[in-house]
Amino acid sequence: MNKQKIIERIMERVKKDLENEGSGHDWWHVYRVWKMAKRIAKEESADPFTVELAALLHDIADWKFHNGDDTVGPRMARRILSRQGISEKIIDHVCEIIQMAPFKWAGVKTKMRTLEGKVVQDADRLDAIGAIGIARAFAYGGHKNQLIYDPNEKPILHRSKKEYLGSRSSTINHFFEKLLLLKDRMNTKTAKNIAKERHEFMEKYLKRFFEEWEGRI
Ligand code: ADP
Ligand code: NI
Repeated sequence: MNKQKIIERIMERVKKDLENEGSGHDWWHVYRVWKMAKRIAKEESADPFTVELAALLHDIADWKFHNGDDTVGPRMARRILSRQGISEKIIDHVCEIIQMAPFKWAGVKTKMRTLEGKVVQDADRLDAIGAIGIARAFAYGGHKNQLIYDPNEKPILHRSKKEYLGSRSSTINHFFEKLLLLKDRMNTKTAKNIAKERHEFMEKYLKRFFEEWEGRI
């Protein structure tokens, strides 16, 4: 089994599948998560092969776009992986990570069982904060026809899937409903450090946003 070759083949496959994704799960999101996951895996001594496979396949079928069905992604990943001569044990592990990786809504704290899972979840969450996170949030908001901000609307912490998926609040609200919560949800020490800086950047950004909103600066 040539691990490098397998990673390359999976990478090409995912790249092709996600080419036309416009909702923040495009190939470049996966690319960034993959790079970050590799970096965290190295620092945390996680198994790089499992981490790379799970990072590459983690958004292959998003639960939000399949009527809330979170089994589509792992099933698709298993189909792709089973053609590569990878051991069942690794395939099971990768699929478990893919099932658990996505952020659901504020009331749910998905707990990863293994270090490799923690690494991939951290890398995915890091891509939702900082400068990249801000860009993705506004891109998603545009895709959904959301206002960038609505001062009359207060942010809510969603307690259920229905509430989260049915939400049509402004993109600035999304910062309070998700993005600013992520710093405290990081699993690994490496990710916590990276998140801290990205979080501070978002706070500065928001402060300035509200100042500009009122024409003060
Ligand atoms: P993940 O890849 O972490 O599972 P999601 O699928 O929840 O993330 O969302 C993809 C991207 O779109 C993320 O950057 C997220 O912050 C952003 N996003 C999700 N929901 C909203 C929303 N209601 N308003 C603005 N941005 C959103
Ligand atoms: Ni993702």
